[in-house]
Amino acid sequence: MDKFYHITTYGCQMNVHESEKIAGILSSLGYKSCENIEDADIAVFNTCCIRENAENHAFGNIGMLKKLKAKKRDMIIAVGGCLTQQIGKADILHKKFPYVDIIFGTHNLNKLAEYILKRQGGKKTVIEIEQGNGEICEEDKPLRTSYPNAWINITYGCNNFCSYCIVPYVRGRERSRRSENIIAEAKSLIAEGYKEITLLGQNVNSYNNGTDDISFPELLTSIANINGKFRLRFMTSHPKDFSAELAEVIAGNAKICNNVHLPVQSGSNAVLKAMNRRYTREEYIKKIETLKKYVPDCAITTDLIVGFPGETEQDFEDTLSLVREVGFSSAFTFVYSKRNGTVAANMENQIPEDVSKDRIMRLVELINSNTREQSLKYVGRTVEILCEDYDGKRGLYLGRDEYGRMAYFESSTNVIGEFLNVKIKSANGVSLAGEIVKD
Ligand code: 5AD
Ligand code: SF4
Repeated sequence: MDKFYHITTYGCQMNVHESEKIAGILSSLGYKSCENIEDADIAVFNTCCIRENAENHAFGNIGMLKKLKAKKRDMIIAVGGCLTQQIGKADILHKKFPYVDIIFGTHNLNKLAEYILKRQGGKKTVIEIEQGNGEICEEDKPLRTSYPNAWINITYGCNNFCSYCIVPYVRGRERSRRSENIIAEAKSLIAEGYKEITLLGQNVNSYNNGTDDISFPELLTSIANINGKFRLRFMTSHPKDFSAELAEVIAGNAKICNNVHLPVQSGSNAVLKAMNRRYTREEYIKKIETLKKYVPDCAITTDLIVGFPGETEQDFEDTLSLVREVGFSSAFTFVYSKRNGTVAANMENQIPEDVSKDRIMRLVELINSNTREQSLKYVGRTVEILCEDYDGKRGLYLGRDEYGRMAYFESSTNVIGEFLNVKIKSANGVSLAGEIVKD
């Protein structure tokens, strides 16, 4: 009889890819994926703790499984991801949800098969959270679910300790995978037909800092030199480490997308300092100028936080003016979320919720109007789109251009994984609509 697994993923791209690794482990044990959690023999929650709402969301969903577990006593519930890695959280989870079978950390994800077998062998709740940095596992066999896109981890952890951020505490110190393993993985993915490779790390620019292996720009060049038609992306870059050498490499390789995610977080020097970002507004703008000098058409995206402790109305207006000045092609915007254990959690002058709400609304309005303006410029142009998916509700295929702009279009045949010329007919805020142009 078939056995099924269901994975619920919270948070960022890093977690989405880690869920692919979890899926790889579960399928090696003979489980198949299922859509509905009710049908699962194993339900895994891959959690995130970067903001309080992601954490609450996971707690809520795990709580809802109590009834199902009471009916399906053999079902295994496993909770992994960053949330479990916070000091004391595994115990809280265990006390609150005694019916959870396995609690495992981010550093020991690749031992999940062992934990499942232990639990099935009669061991009581398995709680395994490795502290420290975790080994680099080069033998992952992810079950990739996002063809034609494939993600490759190049670094794990972070050394930056931005004052608001929990990541360095739950993901450990920065460590880099060996370049030969990364390049071999990219080669085999391209040979398998993947068309877009995204290199992942909390700060890809510091790849191999302090080691004798190649630098990030050299890694990008080596991967871009692999034969075949594909796109190469990377995320995330820390502005303090973004170099002219990297901009030159992007400019010199057609396969590297002219689309860089460079989180600025705030436009105010006082806030940037309190955030421990280690660059000023002026230095950030200088980096953008350098990037644009080499890659004039580069689409720049960013992350922004409003409501950081002590942020004044003037600080916030500095963020708005930076957004206007840089002209980001899009941005992820967040309300500051207090994370216990971080430096900012103990800062005075936490910003009231209504002030943060008002600021995020104003910021989102500005970003949306920038994005709309840029989308409108596409109308009438023909762009190369990599088709990524089919939207059943709309009955349309969709994909992105190299700048990351999404376009929808019709096709009578399955074109997922193909590069297509699409003539843009209309723009709807962030996305475009057009039709395939046959050559
Ligand atoms: N509150 C709000 N946003 C945060 N981020 C990280 N930590 C927090 C926090 N405590 C945002 C940053 C980062 C992105 C991945 O998440 O903008 O770049
Ligand atoms: Fe968090 Fe800063 Fe590291 Fe990014 S660079 S993961 S925001 S500490």
